[in-house]
Amino acid sequence: MFNKRIKIKALLAEENTGFEATVMGWVRTFRNNQFIALNDGSTNNNLQVVASLGEFEDSTLKRLTTGACIKVTGQVIASLGKGQKVELKAATIEILGDSDAEKFPLQPKKHSLEFLREIAHMRFRTNTFGAIFRIRHSLAFAIHQFFNDKGFVYLHTPIITASDAEGAGEMFRVTTLPVDGSAPKNEDGSVNFKDDFFGRSTNLTVSGQLEGELAAMAFSDVYTFGPTFRAENSNTTRHLAEFWMIEPEVAFNDLEDNMNLAEAFIRYVIKYAMEQNKEDLEFLAQRLEEEEKQKPQQDRSEMGLLDKLNFVVNNDFERLTYTEAIEILKESNHNKKKKFQYLIEGWGVDLQSEHERYLVEKHFKKPVILTNYPKDIKSFYMRLNEDGKTVAAMDILAPGIGEIVGGSQREERLDKLTARMAEMHIPAEELNWYLDTRRFGSCPHAGFGLGFERLVQFVTGMGNIRDVIPFPRYPKSAEF
Ligand code: 4AD
Ligand code: MG
Repeated sequence: MFNKRIKIKALLAEENTGFEATVMGWVRTFRNNQFIALNDGSTNNNLQVVASLGEFEDSTLKRLTTGACIKVTGQVIASLGKGQKVELKAATIEILGDSDAEKFPLQPKKHSLEFLREIAHMRFRTNTFGAIFRIRHSLAFAIHQFFNDKGFVYLHTPIITASDAEGAGEMFRVTTLPVDGSAPKNEDGSVNFKDDFFGRSTNLTVSGQLEGELAAMAFSDVYTFGPTFRAENSNTTRHLAEFWMIEPEVAFNDLEDNMNLAEAFIRYVIKYAMEQNKEDLEFLAQRLEEEEKQKPQQDRSEMGLLDKLNFVVNNDFERLTYTEAIEILKESNHNKKKKFQYLIEGWGVDLQSEHERYLVEKHFKKPVILTNYPKDIKSFYMRLNEDGKTVAAMDILAPGIGEIVGGSQREERLDKLTARMAEMHIPAEELNWYLDTRRFGSCPHAGFGLGFERLVQFVTGMGNIRDVIPFPRYPKSAEF
């Protein structure tokens, strides 16, 4: 039944007519009791299926409602209507799955993105989400292709772990102990995790980096691409509690190599999507343009989606140090006129997303790589610079998004690393396995993490991260 069908994308690309074809898909609209717009998800373009008047039972026609799933066999003919070259003249129509038109949640009218989020199980069937998730797929595919072509090994790092790679304590606990207070206790009243499933306290991973570093000390070049979890209570358009991250880790790379790799990587995957998903991107560019028109003039972005992507593909990112960035921010009119919520008074403070976006969108008007941050606002594993107060970190900031990549050269010197861990109260016993890489054949190495959803946001132009992952998880929401 199924292997004889042709996908709508392939059929619409047909140069020939006058042959029989079978298609299957979901009815988008049915008008004049004759014309079915059929979609099977291979493209946003619908196939026009013609059910000639008088050739089908009323009982069949009645069931051709929006959302119904059908199988149609017929002749492929040249289309008289505009917008498509071919259409299908139906000989047989089989209803595979009815859809009650009254109750079908998606109506022809435009729904808001907020409403569609509430029916995320249905939103795949809209043009906007069809385009987004085909692009998401392409980007994922391009990521593997990029690293594979460079000889990287794809490493599956654990989802359940006992460590906190970022040292920020924003973890979801994993346990089989009872939650009603009857869990076994230590003498001091704290829970005794010796009786827990893993015999210790465990959590969902916040990053695969530490395990990635172990493998880089054998394969030289590795990357992870998997789900990561953060229990930070951030209700923003850029944060998810469950998101996907790509983390390459490369032996013999320093900070500059790391930046070069990240830039080449981002360019490659964007270019790939621009080639593979031309129509979907054009559709989303149009959507964004309409959305922008609703905004006051000064809030509109100067570039359309495709211009912005082309710009990133064709121009080098601006590279500067944290210290230089602080100077720019401090001296900016924005700061002097107190337009920042968090005013920049001096060196050492962490940058807020308003500062990142100022640098990228107002000052440089291009993606920016900030390097050499103060050690106190970065993770324990970053390499200490000669000055003793900054580390070899790099963050890539993208227009409209802010931080899209976070990475660094790693501290490969055992004494410096253990000293830093002690300063930050990270128990060395628990990370003994990690420290072994520094004990046995340590080498300079570097890596970074790219937030996959932030990349998809950037490429699709979607304003809210909850709209670029099929089923978003965020505070107070884990539906579906
Ligand atoms: O900057 P982060 O925390 O870096 C790390 O986890 C390092 N271990 C990466 C490495 O060097 N291997 O996170 C990396 C990226 C961020 O730049 C951001 O794009 C994304 O992950 N990210 C999030 N995306 C969505 N929701 C969240 N809550 C995110 N937190 C970080
Ligand atoms: Mg970061």
